[in-house]
Amino acid sequence: MTSCGANRFFSAEYSLPPKPFLGVFDSGVGGLSVLARFLDRLPGENYVYVGDSCHAPYGDRTPAELFELGGSISLWLKDKGAKAIVLACNTISSTLIAEIRSLLAPLPVYSILEAGVMAAVLSTKSQKIGIIATATTTNSQSFAKGIRDHLPEAELTSVACPAFVPLVEKGLVATQEAAKAVEEICSHFSGKNIDTLLLGCTHYPALIPLFRKHLHEDVMIVDPAEYYAEMVAADLYQAQSLHGKIPAANYSDSDLSGLDSYSEVLSPANAQSSDFGKRIFLTTGDHEQFKESGALLFGRVPDPVFRIDYSEIKVFSPLSTARGLALAKQITK
Ligand code: DGL
Repeated sequence: MTSCGANRFFSAEYSLPPKPFLGVFDSGVGGLSVLARFLDRLPGENYVYVGDSCHAPYGDRTPAELFELGGSISLWLKDKGAKAIVLACNTISSTLIAEIRSLLAPLPVYSILEAGVMAAVLSTKSQKIGIIATATTTNSQSFAKGIRDHLPEAELTSVACPAFVPLVEKGLVATQEAAKAVEEICSHFSGKNIDTLLLGCTHYPALIPLFRKHLHEDVMIVDPAEYYAEMVAADLYQAQSLHGKIPAANYSDSDLSGLDSYSEVLSPANAQSSDFGKRIFLTTGDHEQFKESGALLFGRVPDPVFRIDYSEIKVFSPLSTARGLALAKQITK
């Protein structure tokens, strides 16, 4: 794996928000589209976001590489005080969720893939659904399997989009290249009469305006992030692990009922503290580029952003533990 250009970029020393926090990660800026919705839904939580920009894109990496990268970041977040891992990467969620959960147990690990499946199922009326994702996610067929568990007759059209992530990482969404790439992908849906297009990669919301130009106005473009935030909010609520008040729910899915529309601060001690709603963004790549491209997904410039040298994370490689090595063996079998 690459050395990630150690010392190429410099940023000030970071300090993490108070524990416990939610640890959120993705290959780069993509997961910021997820974090933005979490901040709407769970504004009292503290967050540490890791964008592994120096290893992006994840979408054409092998499961063994993804296990090492995703496992290292997850274990690093756990060590630093995460109370749960929020996977903001469909590629890892679709291929390695069982292994990452086993590696991190008993720490909860949330899967965006499960949210994407439910968001698409709730959106479609015709059961004709388009799914766009990275090559690894598409090949795993995890979305297709998940959707068919709920809608066995669903007509699904899955398309891999390897060109998108590098464009979004570089902030090149308002370019001819991006417009052409989106047009090409949309051509796969012509004549399919889809009523829902599921964005199966967290980088893709940056391209929604381009998709709108090529899809029929009745097609719902589904970004699972809002449903995901609701799903995690419901789970944290049930586990009595919420940190602060949360606003009213947007989803009326029965699976998520039981979540009061406005929960109380659970611990009186928490109510006294100001340790709420703190966040930090860390990137293993160029933090200036991260800010620029990240704004496209986050809705504003993410702040504060710091660079973390990947060597700091690599120390937590799952391959240096017996459990991780056993899991890695199963993956490469
Ligand atoms: N944004 C991630 C996903 O949802 C990773 C994309 C990539 O790095 O290829 O799959």
